[in-house]
Amino acid sequence: MKVTVLGLGSMGTALAGALLEAGHETTVWNRSAGKGEALAARGAARAATAAEAVGASPLVLACLSDYDAVHGVLGPLAEELRGRTLVNLTSGSPEQARASASWAAGSGIGYLDGAIMSTPPGIGSPQVMLLYSGSSQAFAEYRETLASLGDPVDLGDDAGTASLYDTALLGMMWATLGGWLQGVALTGADGVDAVTFTPVAVRWMTAVNGFMSTYAPQIDAGVYPGDDATLDVHLATIEHLVHASAARGLDPRLPELFRAFVGQAVAAGHGGDGYARLIETVRAGGRA
Ligand SMILES: NC(=O)c1ccc[n+]([C@@H]2O[C@H](COP(=O)([O-])OP(=O)(O)OC[C@H]3O[C@@H](n4cnc5c(N)ncnc54)[C@H](OP(=O)(O)O)[C@@H]3O)[C@@H](O)[C@H]2O)c1
Repeated sequence: MKVTVLGLGSMGTALAGALLEAGHETTVWNRSAGKGEALAARGAARAATAAEAVGASPLVLACLSDYDAVHGVLGPLAEELRGRTLVNLTSGSPEQARASASWAAGSGIGYLDGAIMSTPPGIGSPQVMLLYSGSSQAFAEYRETLASLGDPVDLGDDAGTASLYDTALLGMMWATLGGWLQGVALTGADGVDAVTFTPVAVRWMTAVNGFMSTYAPQIDAGVYPGDDATLDVHLATIEHLVHASAARGLDPRLPELFRAFVGQAVAAGHGGDGYARLIETVRAGGRA
């Protein structure tokens, strides 16, 4: 399969490397010179211009800093792209992805928007998810090629969905890593190394995964039974985290945020409900 990769930053380089590893005829282009040497040594063809790179392959992957960069490079190349498929793996908002899909449709370009749920070292592993949405025809045609980068997950025809999931999943990552850092600092203040604490933390995440699976149907049904743990119980337990963090001179903001979030729902009379009840607060812009 002939594939072009536009953008040889950390991620574009990893994508091109995985395509070469899988035996694809890979053409690469980067705005600044000097980034494709290692890939060329592994067999990649280096295009002198973006137009030449686009013309080399029916499948074009773009992985630039942002959508403005993608449009700056590809906007003038709509005619060269006509009849080809563009897979945009650049991070952006759902709105930007939908606007790009409209532009592509108007120019006769097959379009898939993608979100890479990994850092560059994970690229090429089947354990890693890459989310795609947009043209189902393009996904079916290039699924096998895209599988060289990681497990390709099809999220349907709306080009904005991959970015929507990406944004949601990154939010979860930041929340989880923030909570983990709080835990590392808390246990560390009493002499526990991060590498000692972390295997227990990772095992705990399995239980948290179970909570999400339990709460998801409750949220869809709008019913939040407090039959596992009530918000009253959560609030009392959060007080321990607030206290223990303060006693060790740690950043109080995350524990205080949890206390405010749960405390508001308890003050509004929902202390007997389960944790999933807080979806109402989130949906109401923090006011419920
Ligand atoms: N790194 C990760 O872990 C990761 C994970 C998931 C998703 N992503 C996404 O992947 C994309 C690339 O990330 P990265 O880590 O590879 O970033 P990076 O190392 O900073 O590379 C950025 C790339 O964009 C190019 N670029 C920037 N502005 C441009 C413009 N106006 N015209 C043409 N090319 C332009 C750069 O070219 P020059 O070399 O000429 O500057 C470079 O090739 C981002 O959207 C990022 O959010 C990254």
